[in-house]
Amino acid sequence: MTDQTPAPYAGPKRVLSGVQPSGALHLGNYLGALVKFARLQHEMKTLIFVADLHAITVFQDPALLAAQTREIAAAYIASGLDPKVATIFPQSAVPEHAELAWIFNCVARLGWLDRMTQFKEKSGKHKERASVGLYTYPVLQAADILIYKATHVPVGEDQKQHLELTRDVAGKFNHDFGAPGFFPLTDPLIEGPGARIMSLRDGSAKMSKSDPSDLSRINLLDDEEAIANKIRKARTDPEPLPETLDELKERPEARNLVGIYAALDGRTDVQVLAEFAGQGFGAFKPKLADLAVAKLGPVGAEMRRLMADPAELDRILKAGGEHARAIAAPTLREVKEKVGFISAGWL
Ligand code: AMP
Ligand code: TRP
Repeated sequence: MTDQTPAPYAGPKRVLSGVQPSGALHLGNYLGALVKFARLQHEMKTLIFVADLHAITVFQDPALLAAQTREIAAAYIASGLDPKVATIFPQSAVPEHAELAWIFNCVARLGWLDRMTQFKEKSGKHKERASVGLYTYPVLQAADILIYKATHVPVGEDQKQHLELTRDVAGKFNHDFGAPGFFPLTDPLIEGPGARIMSLRDGSAKMSKSDPSDLSRINLLDDEEAIANKIRKARTDPEPLPETLDELKERPEARNLVGIYAALDGRTDVQVLAEFAGQGFGAFKPKLADLAVAKLGPVGAEMRRLMADPAELDRILKAGGEHARAIAAPTLREVKEKVGFISAGWL
């Protein structure tokens, strides 16, 4: 990728992230993303959107998309994001994202996109049948982030490569248009327990919306019985839990359950092992099930309560969109000036 020295970005710190409304939210989304959003809103200005433009890179049933968009908004709020503190909005309500993405399409290089592993995974064997949007998806993601000059982006580990591309786009734009420090070189916030939650059926695959087995994931809308049942059925091995993390290296399923326990309880893997070393899964799983039910049950219940009032969710999303636009529009105007569009001054 391009050569970059840290840019002297001097603007305010801002958090931005989003989740696609393309299926049921699960424990991986919750621990890898949602809980971080709620924490960060008290540290810096936070904008969190529902990535509906990204979702349609793979066909979405229009009748479901609106409901799924509200469901994501409900999940944000149920996870602790406060619409009075953070800005919550649908991506499509701020057309500046798509407009900046076009300009970035002309900045990003084909070779950068060719390296994106998520496109390779999602397009599978027939990449010629994938939408063009799926290919340029990371460019739109760069626009989502940079239209707000966001400095911090909390995401799960699978987004690391997309955030590197965002830095490359920012660096090249700043360089090509003679504007050092115009866009920040955004920091991904990935570390911490929960950055990569694995499937409950296969410790080598990440927990995912698209896994055909519902037993592989805990959905945020699962009831208490379903949560406990999925943990009971989670794949494990017959060995007791060891004393050190090193001994979990070859035991991905065991490692994953320890990681989930730690993330849900706000502890480290090492602390969890210190408590459970020597115990088998017959003892550990019921404790994990109790913890998961205690932490996730109220989130699901609050989501249901919020989803029962779609008009209120729409009001929050609309107000959020207006607020976000007020930040995005001046950035786009500056970009247009730098690029040399005479329409920049006509707004
Ligand atoms: P997506 O559902 O792909 O829009 O992802 C939304 C957010 O959840 C992103 O920040 C992802 O990195 C994160 N995420 C998705 N799956 C997992 C997982 N299995 N473990 C941790 N984070 C995840
Ligand atoms: N690509 C992200 C995902 O699948 C969603 C996303 C779109 C996003 N734009 C973003 C995340 C900007 C962070 C910042 O999870």
